[in-house]
Amino acid sequence: MPTHLILLAAGAGTRMMSDRAKVLHEIAGAPLFAHALASATDLDGRKVIVTGHEGASVRKAALELDETLTCVEQAEQKGTAHAVTMAADTLKDAGGDTVMLFGDTPFIRPETLQAMSAARAAGADIVFLGFEAADPARYGRMITDGDTLIRIVEWKDATEDERAITLCNSGVVMAATDTLLRLAAATGNDNVAGEYYLTDIAALGRAEGMSVKVVTCDEAETLGINTRADLAAAEAVFQARARADLLANDVTMQAPETVHLSFDTHIGRDAVIEPNVVFGPGVTIESGATIRAFSHLEGCHVSAGAVVGPYARLRPGAELGNNSRVGNFVEVKNAQIGEGAKVNHLTYIGDAEIGDGTNIGAGTITCNYDGVFKHRTVIGKNAFIGSNTLIVAPRTIGDEAMTATGSVINRDVPAGDLAVARGKQENRPGYARKLFSRLRAAKAAKQKG
Ligand code: UD1
Ligand code: CA
Repeated sequence: MPTHLILLAAGAGTRMMSDRAKVLHEIAGAPLFAHALASATDLDGRKVIVTGHEGASVRKAALELDETLTCVEQAEQKGTAHAVTMAADTLKDAGGDTVMLFGDTPFIRPETLQAMSAARAAGADIVFLGFEAADPARYGRMITDGDTLIRIVEWKDATEDERAITLCNSGVVMAATDTLLRLAAATGNDNVAGEYYLTDIAALGRAEGMSVKVVTCDEAETLGINTRADLAAAEAVFQARARADLLANDVTMQAPETVHLSFDTHIGRDAVIEPNVVFGPGVTIESGATIRAFSHLEGCHVSAGAVVGPYARLRPGAELGNNSRVGNFVEVKNAQIGEGAKVNHLTYIGDAEIGDGTNIGAGTITCNYDGVFKHRTVIGKNAFIGSNTLIVAPRTIGDEAMTATGSVINRDVPAGDLAVARGKQENRPGYARKLFSRLRAAKAAKQKG
């Protein structure tokens, strides 16, 4: 039987004080709703996102992430139960179970949803996820008898005694799809907020004789994002976990607290990450590669044994071959660097292919942009590009070719040839000495006068 997902993402998120939808704010390079979807990664059913505030941009981002998602609109935000009923058309004949998650709650672990499924399998009709709160603040309180949930009372509606309860509602709930949709539609809005509360389905279910249970998780999982400060705190939580995972997976980091990771950073065994490295989205580092200090990488692939940095910038589409070198103040974009090739100093390689074993001298620039179009540079194997060569693309330089230092290459260079494309040197005997004395005399005259 499938388990479907309803992800609520319609709320205004007023406390972010943002023009952007709250769920589009990012942690580790991925929007909040994508983190929430990752919690549901093991679910095999339909996935429905309920959008509302800034709905068009949320829908666009959701479909870019996963085109199998269904987005439904909640035009007016009348409460969590009302939001769930927006998914009725998509799920009414879907059977199975449905779990409801909040789009602004990024850290629920897949294992926690499995524990909820296990409670369903053990006979619970409705399963809510609760947690013991260090500071229960304004969370909904869970009134229980053992692991049986009697009802949930929202903070606004709670008595002093009820507010003293520390078992709080995370918001996550799982039930048979038809039960969830039917009870959500049966909720009323006779409460302080005047909202249709999904939490009311606990009491509604029990009134029908259903078994309603609580599964608990660690409070850290239920962290919801309401403010920019929450967002920064969540980023710190994500980073700490991701670094701990890497250390547990045999990656060496001398100063892990200074390494910034993305949601999808992959780093292989025995790779070494020096201090102050930033991994933007889409980076894969293979085993035994070294990323030296102060490098910035995004959308790139670094093969085994390669050494990057210090102070290197790898932009999207950079693919470094085995044992290649990309050194300080080198920028690589949309380019393949061959096995054992070296680009060690002060260089820009963009829209290019560099063959195996080729050496690129300091200060080389692939001039890839003519102001309108981008052009490609192809350099063969075991070539030698002299320092400060400008390669005016589109250009091909053959295997084992050389360019002389300081050349401006605007014709292709056949394999094995040496291209010299620079002004001819002329020496004027004694001229420097004469020039120096003339200039010094002029300076002395100026100081006297
Ligand atoms: C909710 C729970 C509360 C729980 C808390 C945990 C209810 C009634 N209350 O309260 O018991 O302790 O979460 O954080 O469920 N949303 C919509 N459409 C709506 C209303 C809400 O999409 O009409 C979305 C919001 O964007 C948000 C989520 O649902 O992501 C939760 O809504 P919110 O109003 O923040 O509920 P809380 O008051 O936090
Ligand atoms: Ca909330």
